[in-house]
Amino acid sequence: MELTRLRGFRDLLGADARAMAIAEDRAREIALSYNFLEIRIPALERIELFARSTGETSDVVEKQMYSFADRDEAGTIVALRPEGTPGVVRAYIEAGLDRSDPEQRLFYSGPVFRRERPQKGRYRQFYQFGVEVFGRTDPACDAEMLIMSDEILKGLGVVSRCEINSIGDAACRPAFRAALIEWGRAHLEQLCTDCHNRIDRNPLRLLDCKIDAKLAATAPSSLDYLCDDCRVHFDSVRSLATAAGVETTINPRLVRGLDYYTRTAFEFMAEGLGAQSTVIGGGRYDGLVEAMGGAAIAGIGFGMGIDRIAIALEAAGLVPSAKPDAIVIAMGANALANAVVMVRELRRKSLRIELASPERKLKALLGRAAKIGARFAVIVGDNELARGVVQLKNLESGQQSEVSAADLARAIAGEA
Ligand code: HAM
Repeated sequence: MELTRLRGFRDLLGADARAMAIAEDRAREIALSYNFLEIRIPALERIELFARSTGETSDVVEKQMYSFADRDEAGTIVALRPEGTPGVVRAYIEAGLDRSDPEQRLFYSGPVFRRERPQKGRYRQFYQFGVEVFGRTDPACDAEMLIMSDEILKGLGVVSRCEINSIGDAACRPAFRAALIEWGRAHLEQLCTDCHNRIDRNPLRLLDCKIDAKLAATAPSSLDYLCDDCRVHFDSVRSLATAAGVETTINPRLVRGLDYYTRTAFEFMAEGLGAQSTVIGGGRYDGLVEAMGGAAIAGIGFGMGIDRIAIALEAAGLVPSAKPDAIVIAMGANALANAVVMVRELRRKSLRIELASPERKLKALLGRAAKIGARFAVIVGDNELARGVVQLKNLESGQQSEVSAADLARAIAGEA
C-alpha cells in the first residue's frame, strides 16, 4: 500500500495555501464588519442531523456522505459534515437561542466533506466559509446576503455575477411541486434515471436534469406559482440589492441541491473556473429551525467555496508571493546569542525574518537567501557587534553596508 493521499483530497502548499488564507481572511473581515459573530462547530455529527436538514432526498445525503458506526455501545452512526448549516442550526437550538435570544448573526469556517466525483474545483474535502442569520424575515436581510457576498468577492478582485430565484414558501410551493410532478410524468422517457426516482421524492431537482437542458427549459417556473407575499418579498430583495449596486439575474431553474430552502435562492458564479464556477450559494430556510425541533424562527445564509475562490485568485495573479524581508546570519556562538534577540525585535516590527542555520557556511546561506527571495542578508559577527553594527547586504543590488544595530529595522523596511 502506498501512503499517498486519497482521491479528491488535497495537500495545499505554498501559493495554494496562501490563496485559501487570503480568501478566508477577507470573508472573516467582511463578516465582522456586518456584525456577525464566529461560531465553531464539530466536523462530526450524528447522521440523522444531515438527513433531517440537508435532506434525505438530496444527492449530498443520498450519495455523498462519509459516515460510519462510532465505537460506542449503541453503534451511533456518525457522519463528517457535508456542509455547515445543519450543525449551526443544531448548535443554535441546543444553546436555547431560538427561545432566549432568537436574532443571531453567525459565521463559521472549516473543512466539509462530500464524496463527489473529483475534478478541478470539486474536491471531497473542501473548505466552506458560511454565514447564517436567524430571526429575520425581511427582504433587507436577504438583500444584505447578496451585498455581503458581492463585497467579499469584489474585495478579493474576483469578477462574478449573481443568479437568483424564489422557490416560494409553504403556501405556494405545493402547487409548483404538483406542476413539476405532472410535467415530469409527461416527459419521463426523456429524463435521466436519477430523475425517475426524484419525480415524487424531490421534484424540484428535476430542473437539474443533466440529460436534456432544452427539455428542462420547458419545465414550470417557480416564479409563475409564487403567492403575493413571496412575489413582493422577491421583488423587494432584488430592488434593494440593485440599489446597493448588486445586479441580479433571475434564473428560474435555480433550485439549489439542498432540501431546506424557501423563497430566496442565489448563487454567485466567478469567471475562469470552468464547470465548477459557483463560488457562493445560499438562500432562505424559514422552516428549518422548527423542523429540527426548535421554535418557528426564520433563517437565511450562504456558503462560500474557499477552494474555488483560491483557484480564481491564483488564475488572476492575485496571490502575492511570500518572500522574507531578510535572512539573518550569525557568525559564531556569541553572535548567535545576540541574533536571536535581534530577529525577535525585527519580527515585532512586522518584518518577515528568517534566522539562518548556524551549522552551515556563509556561502551556502547566501545561496539559501537567494532561493527564498530574501531582500536582505544581515550578517552578524562578533567584531561588528562589539561596535554595535551589523553588515546589511542588499541581495537585489548586491551592495553591502555597515548599519547600526539600532537602525536595522528601518534600513530593512526601506525607511533609513
Ligand atoms: P452549497 O451550494 O452546497 O451550499 O455549497 C456552498 C459552496 O461550497 C458552493 O457554492 C461551492 O463554492 C462550494 N462547494 C460545494 N461543493 C464543493 C466541492 N465538492 N468542492 C469544492 N467546493 C465545493 C451549502 O453548503 C449551504 N450550507 C450554504 C448555505 C448556508 N445556505 C444557507 N446557509
